[in-house]
Amino acid sequence: MKKIAILGFGIVGGGIAEVLEQNADQIEHQLGEKIEIGYILDRLDFKGTKYESKIVKDIQTILDDPEVALVAETMGGLHPAYEFSLSALQAGKSVVTSNKAVVAKYGATLLQTAKENGVRYLFEASVGGGIPIIRPLCDSLAGNKISSITGILNGTTNFILNEMESKGASFETALAAAQKNGYAEKDPTDDIEGYDAKRKICILAALAFGKMYPEEAVACEGITNLDLRDVEILSDIGAKIKLIGHAKKTDNRLIMYVRPCVCLADNPLASISGVYNGIMVEDNVLGQVMFYGKGAGRLPTASAVVSDILNILISPSKVDLISFQTGNKEELCKDKSGKHTFYIRMEQEPVGYSYRALNGAYLVDDISRNEIEEKWKPTAYYQVL
Ligand code: HSE
Repeated sequence: MKKIAILGFGIVGGGIAEVLEQNADQIEHQLGEKIEIGYILDRLDFKGTKYESKIVKDIQTILDDPEVALVAETMGGLHPAYEFSLSALQAGKSVVTSNKAVVAKYGATLLQTAKENGVRYLFEASVGGGIPIIRPLCDSLAGNKISSITGILNGTTNFILNEMESKGASFETALAAAQKNGYAEKDPTDDIEGYDAKRKICILAALAFGKMYPEEAVACEGITNLDLRDVEILSDIGAKIKLIGHAKKTDNRLIMYVRPCVCLADNPLASISGVYNGIMVEDNVLGQVMFYGKGAGRLPTASAVVSDILNILISPSKVDLISFQTGNKEELCKDKSGKHTFYIRMEQEPVGYSYRALNGAYLVDDISRNEIEEKWKPTAYYQVL
């Protein structure tokens, strides 16, 4: 019997218990023994449920039990999730988490602490919900040089954009539906302002390029200012606006952003709808590889946490190929002179540029953000991927 503890018994923590129970036979077969949830740390008492006897209020109870091999942190927020994870690792217990805020801010420290204590720190569920992305990036593409990562990294906003586009739903109605389905973070600001996607692109960039940059330094724009008019104009040509997280290595600098971008009909990211995420990775050996699946929700996220739990319980002292240092924000490219095709909604024709006229807007080729801002004051403009 392997004993584990769960910190935070909300949507994801509860999902872990459900998966462990539902797939107990398969898990026992893989591991050769059962997994027992020894403790659940939570503010609530879960009176009258089968979990009542497992509830504890003090992390020390878990840290002091030598039988607890692993702690699953699904509390959310930075504190005390970080301190609890750190003390569990220092007590010789491996930690798995779905908490991207902690991974983005303290991941380098926690990985180092795990290494120093001969245990493991895994966070597959922190990006892409149930999509296997962290392990493939670190293990399956280990020998390849990654040049860029581009993805729809937030299920809630993709769900909202999809509801607006397909049902003509208002932003508020679509957000309420996302919350009802358990996709949105407790505070939806993190989703709709792009902060959640920003943490995720920071984590992916850290794994791909070796440095975790402070999330505050990453250019970020959410979907709250999006006008349905742009969604409709683009819909006429089969194009979609998606909230995109992007990281690209250029010489010694890194371009990194989260912002709404246009995916034309032939871009595979255009067809990713609802709560699904899609992550395109480009490297110098394989070329392009795309990861696709449910990016949010109770069971998809629990699926990724349970895979980390099993991975660790099967190989508790495996040395993971996951490592990164803290990056200096000066290495992030702030330059707005890169030339791309842009969707621009404005009245005047973009004379002097190659363009395609849409119904009230233009697709303008080979133009930079600087040029757009200097020449015109468009109502809206978005880069075309
Ligand atoms: N709120 C997040 C999302 C949950 O919608 O993608 C998964 O990280």
